[in-house]
Amino acid sequence: MLCLIAFTLLCAAAACASSEWIEYPSDGIATMTHYTLPSGYVASCGCTGASTGYPTAALNQMAFGSSTNFGPACGRCFRLTLLNTFLSDPPFYPEVTKSVVIKVTDLCPLSTTGWCNATTKGPNAAGSYLNFDLAWPSSSIPDNFFPSNQSFYGYTDFGVWNISYQSVSCNSSWAGAKDRAALGSVPALEMSACCPADPTGSANDTCPSYSADNAIPYVSTRSNISIATISHK
Ligand SMILES: *[C@@H]1O[C@H](CO)[C@@H](O)[C@H](O)[C@H]1NC(C)=O
Ligand SMILES: *[C@@H]1O[C@H](CO)[C@@H](O)[C@H](O)[C@H]1NC(C)=O
Ligand SMILES: *[C@@H]1O[C@H](CO)[C@@H](O)[C@H](O)[C@H]1NC(C)=O
Ligand SMILES: *[C@@H]1O[C@H](CO)[C@@H](O)[C@H](O)[C@H]1NC(C)=O
Ligand SMILES: *[C@@H]1O[C@H](CO)[C@@H](O)[C@H](O)[C@H]1NC(C)=O
Ligand SMILES: *[C@@H]1O[C@H](CO)[C@@H](O)[C@H](O)[C@H]1NC(C)=O
Repeated sequence: MLCLIAFTLLCAAAACASSEWIEYPSDGIATMTHYTLPSGYVASCGCTGASTGYPTAALNQMAFGSSTNFGPACGRCFRLTLLNTFLSDPPFYPEVTKSVVIKVTDLCPLSTTGWCNATTKGPNAAGSYLNFDLAWPSSSIPDNFFPSNQSFYGYTDFGVWNISYQSVSCNSSWAGAKDRAALGSVPALEMSACCPADPTGSANDTCPSYSADNAIPYVSTRSNISIATISHK
């Protein structure tokens, strides 16, 4: 149901014609940024506020699969592993390998610049079609999660990391999977929320695209969301 960059023509002839989504491999290279998500916040997917007590991330709009409210990425879990920093000169290659398993609960809106600006026309400035915007600081992720070398660089927050990502089962890998309160959607949002506990990719348990289903342009920036807007890098 998603379009693979390399297969745009194939997609155009099939069900993907009406969208500009990409289908990404289950494992690959991406970038990671971080943003502030207040504890208890109900983000674009409409996942319960208690989900913020566990590692979560926003995904860039094209990979998220919707410009408004929920999309096919909602609820999916990924293991994200830090590789090296992108912006620093020289790049920082940490001696320790840090990973975190996140659940996608939020949209990182499309922008003209920034790290969530990948479209079918090209990747972000780091050459990546996927950017995971990690909700951090978080009560569930150590404050020293991001390795640093302050004596050499003079700062600790590198902002943008090259990472590897791996699609994983939420039920077996995500820290919040056994906390019923952290699973599912906010009932009051009714049809504008979609947060499966462990989407498998089947149409039965994976969110559709809210924007595609409501004829909201896929390339629009989020404007009419029922949920408050927070800023992403
Ligand atoms: C990661 O970042 C460096 C710059 O720090 C860049 O040269 C490299 O191509 C990027 N990609 C990978 C997969 O390391
Ligand atoms: C995203 O923005 C960067 C500059 O920040 C630019 O180099 C890149 O081409 C942009 N990507 C797209 C698809 O517009
Ligand atoms: C910090 O950078 C310096 C210079 O490259 C290096 O000698 C040192 O081992 C680094 N420390 C850590 C913790 O990476
Ligand atoms: C994952 O766990 C939830 C909640 O316990 C359950 O409803 C769901 O069926 C499980 N999914 C899979 C694929 O095991
Ligand atoms: C989706 O659910 C329907 C009805 O429960 C079932 O018949 C169908 O086989 C399911 N499809 C998949 C791909 O699991
Ligand atoms: C935008 O929100 C208003 C109410 O605030 C609603 O009437 C309208 O239908 C919404 N438009 C879309 C495209 O969701």
